[in-house]
Parts: sequence; structure tokens; C-alpha cells
Amino acid sequence: MIRDTRIFELINKEDRRQIEGLELIASENFVSDQVMEAMGSCLTNKYAEGYPGKRYYGGCQFIDEVELLAIERVKRLFNAEWANVQPHSGAQANAAVMLALLKPGDVFMGLDLSHGGHLTHGSHVNYSGILYKPVAYKVNEDSALLDYDGMEEMAVKEKPRLIIAGGSAYSRDWDYKRMREIADKTGALLMADIAHPAGFIATGILNHPFPHCHIVTSTTHKTLRGPRGGVILMGSDFVNPWGLKTPKGNEKMMSQILDSAVFPGIQGGPLEHVIASKAVAFQEALSDSYREYMLQVKSNAAVMAGAFTEKGYKVVSGGTDNHSMLVDLRTKVPDLTGKVVENTLVKADITVNKNMAPFDDRSPFQTSAIRLGTPAITTRGMQEADMVGIVDLIDEVIMNISDEKIIAGVKQKVNEMMDSFPRYAW
Ligand SMILES: Cc1ncc(COP(=O)(O)O)c(C=O)c1O
Repeated sequence: MIRDTRIFELINKEDRRQIEGLELIASENFVSDQVMEAMGSCLTNKYAEGYPGKRYYGGCQFIDEVELLAIERVKRLFNAEWANVQPHSGAQANAAVMLALLKPGDVFMGLDLSHGGHLTHGSHVNYSGILYKPVAYKVNEDSALLDYDGMEEMAVKEKPRLIIAGGSAYSRDWDYKRMREIADKTGALLMADIAHPAGFIATGILNHPFPHCHIVTSTTHKTLRGPRGGVILMGSDFVNPWGLKTPKGNEKMMSQILDSAVFPGIQGGPLEHVIASKAVAFQEALSDSYREYMLQVKSNAAVMAGAFTEKGYKVVSGGTDNHSMLVDLRTKVPDLTGKVVENTLVKADITVNKNMAPFDDRSPFQTSAIRLGTPAITTRGMQEADMVGIVDLIDEVIMNISDEKIIAGVKQKVNEMMDSFPRYAW
């Protein structure tokens, strides 16, 4: 067989980029060797449409055990009664829940994308906004904290069938209890998408969506430090509200309806190599050392947010409760967009992403903020003192945005610094 040198050359380049640079994208992390090993295993060769014990293909005896282990571990991790580990991604998990719970045109509520929500929570360019009728709740203009009173008023008026908690750029904790009260008052189901804070929830550091939420979805690759993928969970509210029916017209348990929504509803064969890798990551997340890691992620983020504030930047909502923060550039450098800052930081081997600030006056392609997070650098062993140095380097780039020489100097400092933090240090 001819070796595909071009692709492996590119993979090696990406490998170097990851090793030499400062990875501050809030949704990224570095998986362990064994998570990677399971993902690159022979399980990728196997078709296994269906579920353990009910497959459409022969030869699934070991695959079944793998999937059952993944289910058992994720249930333990999140204190769940039921789990589906097949969604290929977070977006797929959310699509399956919507397929199960909503009919086209049904109203649901999610956090406004420009206020920290996610595409799949009702953006007009996403299936969620194309097939269903989303209504977006918002954060408070002064505090940038969730406006639960406004959410309640909106729910009473709009009568959504589903309310979604969670987002991708909200750095504070969620009041699931209050949201359940709102859902109960208006006859909606409550779903939490915990893609970002999953690791904090699993380790008891942030509020748990159970028992308040009927359904929980998550990705497995952000704070959870597993392979790219999704999961769906249910707690003790193991109900079939509204007498939902399966595609065959039977009234069944909610678990069966959700299983059918994943397969055959929106997916075909499950990625069993990824499911094996999820199982490894769940096991790792059940350990004491993972909880210590998550505490360090939180502490690093708090110190980083404080360091930005010290330098005169506005951190949206005044700080962070989790791993992420939004830095609004308008107070310190009103002429610079998130796009320019993101692109310039890349030249210094510092990776962040541009992000809308709540009530932003710039478009999503320009933005007035950048989003940063500490999961990946904490996996590499960085601690509080390093956060202050990182903010110094970012500030040096921002304050010298057109000075190629200074930016090259920062890049050299970044590369030297990252040399002391191996990617797989744990
Ligand atoms: C809150 C939230 N939900 C869902 C997703 C989608 O996950 P994926 O990229 O795996 O489809 C993300 C990803 O950023 C997210 O932040």
C-alpha cells in the first residue's frame, strides 16, 4: 500500500501546532493516550446498527459489551437512570431530543446565540430554527447574568413545549431548579445541554441538572476530556409526558422514544470506536484526580479573568464560575474586533475564538469579544501563576497589534513556555 505521506505530513504539522502553542479555546482539550488509542482501534471496522442485544448485524458480541460499559459508566458519572451514548456529536444529541419531543413548527425556548447560547438552540441557520419555532431568552443588559424573570414572562406568553438550559459562552452557573419551576408553570419539558460545564457537574463543582431537568445532553470532548461525541441522559423523571408515541405509533417509555430518535431517527451505524473511547474517558472522569483537575480548571479561569480585569479589559458578567470567559474588547481597545484579535493571536501561537458579546453592535463575523477557556492548558499542567503570564502575553499582542516584531517575540515566549508543559503529562 502506498503511504499517504501528504495527510500524515499535515497531521504532524497539526501535532506540532498543538504542542508548541497555547490552546485557549474553551471547548477544546487534550485527551489521554488511552482515549486516543481506543478511538484509533479496530472498532472502527464494525457495523453495529441498533443497540446492545438488538443489532441489525452479526458479530457484535464484544461491541455490545463496550457499549454497555460506556452506558453504565456515564450513568454513574452523572447519577443518571438512563443513557444513550451513540450521538455522533452534541448537535446530533440535541437533534435527537428535538425529533423525539417536538413536531415541526412547535415552539421551544433557548438562550439567544448572541447572549451565549448555541446554534442548535434555535439559530435560524440551524435545523433547530428551520424546523421548529424558537423563542430566545436573554441575559440582563446590565449584569450579563441570565434574566430568569424575563424567561418566565416569555414562557408564560409563548407556551413552549421545551425549554433548553445551557450554552456555549455563558460563564456562570445555571439555576435548573428555577427553570424547572418555569417549565412546570407553563407545561414545558426542561432539557439541559451541559456540553461545556459537564466536567464540573460530574464532579459536583457546579449545580447538577438532575433532578430538575427531564433530559440532559452533552458533548464528551470539552471539559469531559473524551473523544468528539455526544450523549443523552435522563434522571428520575423517567416519564413519557404528553403520551408521546414511537414512530410505529406505540405509546412507550421516554427512553425508547429517545433511542429511536437517535437510531434510526437521525443516525445510522454507531461509531463504536468512539463509544469505546467515551467509555475510557468516563472511567477517567470518575477518578479523584479528574476532580482535582476540574478544580484547577476553575481556579485557573478565575485567576485569568481577574488578570484581564486588572489590565482594564471588561470580562462579561464580571468574572466566571466555570472554565470559560468572554473578554469584551470595547472598553480597552474599542477599534479592534474579535476577528482581528483572534487572527493576530494566531501569529503568536495563541489560539482563542472571536465571540459576540451580549448586546454586541458588531456582526458574528467581526464581534467585539473573544472567548477563552482553561481546560486544555490545565490538562498540560498549568497553574494559577501561569495564567497571569498568559494574560500579559495576550495583552502584549493586543496593544501591539500591527507590530510584527513584537508579535514574533511573543510567539517565541509562548513556544519556550509550552516546552515545559508536555501535552500528555498525566
Ligand atoms: C452548548 C453546546 N451544545 C452543543 C454543541 C455541539 O457540539 P458538537 O460540536 O459536538 O456538535 C456545542 C459545541 O460547541 C455546545 O457548546
